[in-house]
Formats: sequence, structure tokens, C-alpha cells
Amino acid sequence: MIIAIDGPAASGKGTLGKRIAGHLGLAHLDTGLLYRAVGAICLAAGKLEDEAASVEAARALDVTTLDPESLRTGAIGEAASVVAARPGVRAALVDLQRRFAARPEGAVLDGRDIGSVICPDATVKLFVTASPEVRAERRFKELAARDPLASYEAVLADIHKRDERDSSRAAAPLVMASDAVLLDTSNLGIEESFAAALAIVERARG
Ligand code: CDP
Repeated sequence: MIIAIDGPAASGKGTLGKRIAGHLGLAHLDTGLLYRAVGAICLAAGKLEDEAASVEAARALDVTTLDPESLRTGAIGEAASVVAARPGVRAALVDLQRRFAARPEGAVLDGRDIGSVICPDATVKLFVTASPEVRAERRFKELAARDPLASYEAVLADIHKRDERDSSRAAAPLVMASDAVLLDTSNLGIEESFAAALAIVERARG
């Protein structure tokens, strides 16, 4: 069983993906980390504007060395969204994601184009969203725990910018697949979102 979870920044898809995978005993891949890792490499090298360098970084990416904690900063999220708009970067990461999904028992993958491009035949497709203000509040709380200088306004501005870039790009834009089920978590807590997502998964499994 392949479960594809897509949605905009800070919609809660990563948390849901992890919970659902844990519940069903499936492996989970947060595909945003792949783009974040490529963005981080380019940022560190001062080469964010260099398309060829980003494609090279994506081709050479070693997924066994990804450090989720260090990749979850606002600056790296922004860099990820810049490199993720490049078709060469996306193409370099397709096989890796499809191989992950092809394990015999199945897997849970979350991202922006899992249901639309990476796993169009997924058993279940969830499109998880929430209002920009709710998503900014959640992301702000995460960041504020680590950075006392984090600002809600800056986080909200970043969410609007990334929504716009991720949705308007030509290469695999953020869209809800026609056969995806919409889950709006604006008024749901983590437990309620998990219960709602699980109900959708169970229904799709028959
Ligand atoms: O956690 P958050 O939603 O803030 O970000 P993320 O899922 O880690 O993704 C970071 C950026 O990578 C996004 O803004 C997208 O531009 C890009 N991305 C993508 O293009 N395709 C994916 N499957 C996953 C992420």
C-alpha cells in the first residue's frame, strides 16, 4: 500500500505521514528533506543561483547522511523551494523516491508532487492543507522553541512566498491530484487530524 500525502508548507503533512506510517508499520519518506538537503548544499557553497550546481548536488545526494534537525530552518526551506523549481533537480530525485515507494509492503511519502508525479498509482492520496495563518502559527511555534528571535509576521510572509513559488512553477507544481482526498486541518489538532487521515486511509483500503 502506498500512501501519498501532499500539501503546502507547514500543513502538517510530515507529522501526519510519520504517525500514519508508525501506525501501519510502513516506512516513511519526508521528500521535503531531499530538496532541503540540496538547498542547504547550494546555500553553504554560495551557489543558490547556479542551476547546474544544484542539479549536480541533487544527483550526488547521499540520503543516508540527511540530518532532519539541521535542515528544518526557515532559510533552508526557502532555498529548497528555489532549487525545487528546477526540472533538473526534480528529475535527479525521482528514481530515489520511486525506489523508496516500491518496497513490497508499501510506504508513506509526503511532499508536493507525490500523488501527481512520483506515485500516480498510490493506494491513497491525501491533500493536507490549512489556512496560511494557521500554518504560520504552527511553524512559528516550532521555530520559536529554538530561536527566540523568530517572528510570526516573517514566518507568515515566508509561507505566502513559498505557496506562491511552489504553486506557480512549471515543474511539478503543488496541485491537488484529481483523485486525492482533501483534509483541511485549520480547525483540527494533531490527534483529530490523525484520526481524520486514518479514516480516509481505512476507507480507501476498503
Ligand atoms: O515542511 P515544509 O512544508 O515547510 O517544507 P518541506 O515539505 O520540507 O519542503 C520544502 C520545499 O521543498 C517546499 O517549499 C517545496 O518547494 C520543495 N518540495 C518539493 O518541491 N517537492 C516535494 N515533494 C517536497 C518538497
